[in-house]
Amino acid sequence: MDNHTLKKEILKLKHELHVSIVAHFYQKDEVFELADFSGDSLQLAQWAAKDSNPYLVFCGVGFMGQSVKILAPEKRVFMPKIACCAMARMIDVDYFDQNVAILEKAGIKKEDILPVTYINSSADVKAAVGKMNGYVCTSSNAKKIITKALESNKKILFVPDRCLGQNIAKEMGLKSCVVGDGSDPKEADILCYNGFCSVHQLFDVDDIAFYRAKYPDILIVTHPECKPEVCDLSDFVGSTSQIIEYVKKLPSEQKVAIGTEYNMIKRLRQENTYVLSSSKPECPTMNETTLQDVYNVLLSIKEGRFENEISVLEETRKWAHTALNRMFEL
Ligand code: 13P
Ligand code: SF4
Repeated sequence: MDNHTLKKEILKLKHELHVSIVAHFYQKDEVFELADFSGDSLQLAQWAAKDSNPYLVFCGVGFMGQSVKILAPEKRVFMPKIACCAMARMIDVDYFDQNVAILEKAGIKKEDILPVTYINSSADVKAAVGKMNGYVCTSSNAKKIITKALESNKKILFVPDRCLGQNIAKEMGLKSCVVGDGSDPKEADILCYNGFCSVHQLFDVDDIAFYRAKYPDILIVTHPECKPEVCDLSDFVGSTSQIIEYVKKLPSEQKVAIGTEYNMIKRLRQENTYVLSSSKPECPTMNETTLQDVYNVLLSIKEGRFENEISVLEETRKWAHTALNRMFEL
């Protein structure tokens, strides 16, 4: 089937089966256009958990579909491709426990550590964090969650994105370190796990220097998964939806260079908009989902095969829900 026919068939099946489709901003255009709702990680989880349709097709990466299942266990959640965010894959429960053990060896008691996990992590990691009374955060609310977590007077173990942890620490005037990098964790307030997003690592201070030299009035806008030195030199740092909101308010003649995923940048603004990198910042996992996959998953619902359904063990779900819910309560 060509793309036009596929789209028509998808819309027909979606209507007939009472399915909602949501898509993250990084999805391919043809998939993104089909969505009933699109947003950043926080907005997607909130919208999807409240949606009244019994079936949800989530176009994004694995942890996003899992988050909906954790929040709304009665909903049947499907993903056209169960593509796992490369950063989320950098940490599992064993690595989490290993980090806690390293901190204990360095003289920090387990009861003096409060974990906060970025939503880009598996249900298992969220559950481990929930068991230690910790929180989940997203790029749009990390500062608020960490502020709350610090009221406990404990050290924050931030997983898995070291850049987000370091960026928030800097913004709040706090000290951070990367666990296991040789520095003394007793000196730091935020102890970061050594994970990162390879897409956002592409943006560098040299790219900023290049654009500022070429267009002295240009604005530099980046996602907090970028390196701290890049965020330091940016005019605005925010989650995907915060970037969209910021750029949309700019006058059309204002030049802007953006450091985040390519699909989102190219859809955002046609003129005076630049990608803050000489190589194309494409997220391989976000780009795995195709129109054919969306069609296939809908057909499998119709035929009762229910392929690519997201499931989370009840014990894991319960603890992961505790950690996610602490974020929503704020
Ligand atoms: P947002 O929550 O800002 O949409 O970020 C998700 C993500 O994976 C960015 O790389
Ligand atoms: Fe994960 Fe990075 Fe892709 Fe976001 S851009 S989904 S953090 S790999």
